[in-house]
Amino acid sequence: MKDKPIAVFDSGVGGISVLRELYALMPDENYIYFGDSLNAPYGSKSVKEVLALSVKNAEMLMGMEAKALVIACNTATSVAASFLRERYPDFPIIGVEPALKPAVLFKENSTVAVMATPITLKEEKFKKLMESFNSQAKIIPVPCEKLAGMIERGIIGGEETESYIKELFYPYKDEKIDSVVLGCTHYPFIKKTLKKVLGDIPLFDGGEGTARETMRRLSEKDLLKHGKEKGNINFLSSKESIEEILLYKKFFSQEA
Ligand code: DGL
Repeated sequence: MKDKPIAVFDSGVGGISVLRELYALMPDENYIYFGDSLNAPYGSKSVKEVLALSVKNAEMLMGMEAKALVIACNTATSVAASFLRERYPDFPIIGVEPALKPAVLFKENSTVAVMATPITLKEEKFKKLMESFNSQAKIIPVPCEKLAGMIERGIIGGEETESYIKELFYPYKDEKIDSVVLGCTHYPFIKKTLKKVLGDIPLFDGGEGTARETMRRLSEKDLLKHGKEKGNINFLSSKESIEEILLYKKFFSQEA
């Protein structure tokens, strides 16, 4: 059982930012990464569609004998995590959520912008998270409709990305933003571009926290592998093309 893979999925390349953290923390584990690039981006679909796609991905990966499932997508987590946990109460299912806590703790009474897909920001899960930190910081949700789609096409910098980020932050030009939460797993891949446009402010993402939580959940069930050799990563994509898998591998080895 311990040799079985940890399954990780996202709407596309984004979850690779989480996979990288998982692999950094638990390099001896085996992984299956599934990117649903054929249906990306999820953020502009209906809640019903994202739920159906997430359940389909999860059940396909469970069928591949995974020992745990990491929903490496904030959008899919907000819509489908509780549904899947109710349906599979004994299976370790770990989700990802915007890293508001470290951003709020980073500086007292600060202004924190949260970039995420429109679905993530509209869902109950985020509203509750925001409520729990509202008294400690000024939180500004920034819905980024098109960003995941751009990154999905491999565009992580240059004129198109920079002017879109400027457009997204224009309404808050008079705010003094102290930090930015990257509430979509695609965004860590544009950290450099974000810093170029927004200045050298701290950026927080949920990847590392998700990796630590996965380790904790596996350890609780005595499912950690503890091997000496490095594990395998099996990259799969609903696009079923070699170009897509090469893109996933490129993102996996991209410098942060
Ligand atoms: N990577 C995803 C997230 O964390 C979804 C992006 C998308 O497909 O819209 O929200």
